[in-house]
Amino acid sequence: MKKVLVIGGGGREHAIVDAVSRSPQVGKIYCAPGNAGIAQQAECVAIKDTDVEGLRDFALENGIDLTVVGPEVALAAGVVDAFKAAGLRIFGPSKAAATIEASKDFAKQLMAKYNIPTAAFETFEDYGSALEYVKKGSFPVVLKYDGLAAGKGVVIPETLEEADETLKDMLLDDKFGKGKVVVEEFLTGPEFSFMCFVDGLDVYPMTLSQDHKRAYEGDKGPNTGGMGAYSPVPIITDEDLEFSLEHVMKPTAAAMVAEGCPFTGVLYGGLMKTPQGPKVIEFNCRFGDPETEVVLPRLLTDIYDVFSAVADHTPMPQLEWSKEVTMGFVMASKGYPGSYDKGFPIDIPEEISPLPSVGRNDNALCRPEGRSDVRIYHMGTSFKDGKFYTSGGRVLMVVGFGADLQQAHDKALAAVESIKCDNLFYRRDIGWRVL
Ligand code: AMP
Ligand code: GLY
Repeated sequence: MKKVLVIGGGGREHAIVDAVSRSPQVGKIYCAPGNAGIAQQAECVAIKDTDVEGLRDFALENGIDLTVVGPEVALAAGVVDAFKAAGLRIFGPSKAAATIEASKDFAKQLMAKYNIPTAAFETFEDYGSALEYVKKGSFPVVLKYDGLAAGKGVVIPETLEEADETLKDMLLDDKFGKGKVVVEEFLTGPEFSFMCFVDGLDVYPMTLSQDHKRAYEGDKGPNTGGMGAYSPVPIITDEDLEFSLEHVMKPTAAAMVAEGCPFTGVLYGGLMKTPQGPKVIEFNCRFGDPETEVVLPRLLTDIYDVFSAVADHTPMPQLEWSKEVTMGFVMASKGYPGSYDKGFPIDIPEEISPLPSVGRNDNALCRPEGRSDVRIYHMGTSFKDGKFYTSGGRVLMVVGFGADLQQAHDKALAAVESIKCDNLFYRRDIGWRVL
């Protein structure tokens, strides 16, 4: 039986652990650092996701057969390069390939060079020139900090004053860190997340999902890491999908090979269906969070084989997806994505509480019999004296399953409403575009 290490400790990693736990080949799962929910399905080890040497040594000492990397910070820290140098099997892109997410400017230059459809843009290091450029353009305008910012480095000012303030934050006061700013044309249309398994030139699409980036109902408020998601996305036609695969994802994979940094792992296309067709809003170099929590539960293929095919550059098994659909609501700490308090007790009713111990089951779907319609992925929780507590900005992702999205929505929402905690909020309008 195989031993798998999953790096990371959020809802995405919980969903990865859950998917791996369904593989009949896997006998032991570790997660570093994991969280209180993950601890019910894997052995959590207290190593930080950016402690590259610590992770590598753990994998060597414990005979890990395959490591799967969740967070971008671990990839940008070079965890894949270090594992490979030590002869370890690992799923994820090299540090060089992870630049497609770590630098917005790199991604935009790549798209410009290889004619991949995206918003018009200009990059600035200097506050004065950026402000001059913004003054000449129209509003709203899109300002993107060049480096990693946990989904919070994008601001869309409606006025020149607001834009000026943001540019000061980004370029004079280094509030996001030291870095450049990409100024982008504002596009309109529904967004969708197109994640593909990529091995060099080979691109294997996953089923589509849609995130909800804004903090509050009606798509209002600040951008977050994501407040809810569903899969599939009926407003995206087969034609849109075909276009996005042939004109975005495949050419991007080819561009990365041509640039000398072939991509292996999950390439995440954050796309917008504009009146002119799908265009790229951003690329990520890993699974999306919370998209993974609605996509992986629908994967029927043994995920150990899928990860292995990419890690070993061997043929990919046919990816099969459940007809049952998913919708999930994020429950976040009041104040998120700004500052928030932690340590509030969470009451999760027994009938929807997560699986005890390793959740392997032989159902085609990830759900154990008798608890057929809800799955809770922990994003930021801790556990003490028999109780879960909030320990992060995003705390739980509550996923409902159904024959259609309305059913999945209703099941998830009912579960969300049954969870009691004094310091959590959520959006009730997840899925509004399709319901
Ligand atoms: P990003 O981190 O680049 O995905 O941006 C976060 C969010 O900002 C996206 O999900 C969009 O909702 C919005 N956004 C980013 N770029 C644009 C754009 N060019 N036009 C309109 N909205 C955008
Ligand atoms: N949910 C968007 C992301 O993972 O970046």
